[in-house]
Amino acid sequence: MAFLTIWNYYSSLSVVFLLIFVCTVRCQAVHAENVTVLEGGTAQISFQLQNYDGSIVVIQNPRRQTLFFNGTRALRDDRFQMVLFTPLLVRISLTNASVWDEGDYFCQLYTDDTHHQVATLSVSVPPEVPLVEAKVQPVEGAEVELTCLSSRSKPPTVLRWFREHHEIPGLQSHVPTSLLRMVSQQDNGKTVSVRSTIRIPVDRRDDGAVLSCEASHPALGAAQRRVRHYRLDVHFAPTVHIEPPASILREGDPLTLACSVTGNPLPRAVQWSRVNATLPERVEIRGSTLMVSRLSRAHNGTYLCQAHNLYGGAADHYTLLVYDPGAVVETHGAVPFAIIGGILTMLVFAVICALIITTWCSLRQKGSYLTHEASGLDEHGEVQQAFLNDGDVQEGNKEYLL
Ligand SMILES: *[C@@H]1O[C@H](CO)[C@@H](O)[C@H](O)[C@H]1NC(C)=O
Ligand SMILES: *[C@@H]1O[C@H](CO)[C@@H](O)[C@H](O)[C@H]1NC(C)=O
Ligand SMILES: *[C@@H]1O[C@H](CO)[C@@H](O)[C@H](O)[C@H]1NC(C)=O
Ligand SMILES: *[C@@H]1O[C@H](CO)[C@@H](O)[C@H](O)[C@H]1NC(C)=O
Ligand SMILES: *[C@@H]1O[C@H](CO)[C@@H](O)[C@H](O)[C@H]1NC(C)=O
Repeated sequence: MAFLTIWNYYSSLSVVFLLIFVCTVRCQAVHAENVTVLEGGTAQISFQLQNYDGSIVVIQNPRRQTLFFNGTRALRDDRFQMVLFTPLLVRISLTNASVWDEGDYFCQLYTDDTHHQVATLSVSVPPEVPLVEAKVQPVEGAEVELTCLSSRSKPPTVLRWFREHHEIPGLQSHVPTSLLRMVSQQDNGKTVSVRSTIRIPVDRRDDGAVLSCEASHPALGAAQRRVRHYRLDVHFAPTVHIEPPASILREGDPLTLACSVTGNPLPRAVQWSRVNATLPERVEIRGSTLMVSRLSRAHNGTYLCQAHNLYGGAADHYTLLVYDPGAVVETHGAVPFAIIGGILTMLVFAVICALIITTWCSLRQKGSYLTHEASGLDEHGEVQQAFLNDGDVQEGNKEYLL
């Protein structure tokens, strides 16, 4: 009885001891948290220990190379430092992190029952300011294809196009950076190059317009963007305009004829010529301006200003009439006099018409009185009355006409 009791006592005690022993093994544990770091930044990788019993702690990189063996550096990579090693916490730091450092970091406890925990390191690569280029030179009337390129990012950058705060929908594509850089094929598709292409029709009014390509990325934060502005350079054929002088020109006057030219590229020079004749002597051409210090009648003629670029040519002409100084006084008000002259001519013409009608009517009236006394009397009476009021004028004009 007593033996059994003692035996029971010891066996239950041993179970308790066994449990305690198992717990010291089982309950020793590691906890790890995942870490995200910007490329080039410093990552802190921490492992929390539970019930650490002095076992060997081994930290390995994703390639299973041992970085630290119970606190002692094993791999010769100075970017890794042991920051803390306490019975509660093991912390290492990694400076200048690169995408190659990504992966699972192992923390192993070498006990009877080898236990390990993994911390996953992610390295994010924010985009640089993207690049914008046009495949071909934008030309008026054609569509321009613009490509915005963000060379390297992780996770992929989102590119958006804007023109004066209005978004232009673009076509986005991702290409692993490794495919772009065939020379160094190490990137392994870890980072991607993102491109966004837009096609827009352009004309000369779009020349100088500013488009922007914006790169947004989680690592940049919500409000921050990398923006590239792109000024459209739309090529177009020239236009030419000669501003005519305000007043008429007399012999001895100076003349300045400015020829204004547009075009992209701007024509390097304009050509001045005189139609059906050579440019007279004493004509000075300065840039796009034709100048004569003293006009003479020999300068009469039609002057032509022409300009060309790759996309075409344009011309404008000006007909120069040089009046002699004597004629100047009379023709000074040339335009008002012409109008007054015209009005006078029309008045005279109207009076003559009235006279003819009156004469014709009075002749007809005499005839009608003889033949049809009653018919059309009212009508003719009205006409007669109308003219009676102007009797004096008619008389005067009759005299004038005779
Ligand atoms: C850490 O990251 C890995 C892989 O991305 C994932 O499977 C795991 O659940 C993550 N652990 C924690 C604690 O978030
Ligand atoms: C491992 O390192 C810890 C902390 O320095 C120490 O307490 C422990 O005794 C070491 N274990 C072995 C087996 O050397
Ligand atoms: C960081 O690492 C990159 C390669 O990953 C290297 O080119 C660069 O020089 C390093 N920078 C520093 C400050 O060590
Ligand atoms: C130039 O000459 C041509 C033929 O000789 C003629 O038809 C044309 O009217 C002339 N132009 C001017 C502006 O004199
Ligand atoms: C120039 O033009 C004026 C105005 O038409 C004219 O009177 C003059 O005779 C012209 N001179 C020559 C040289 O043709």
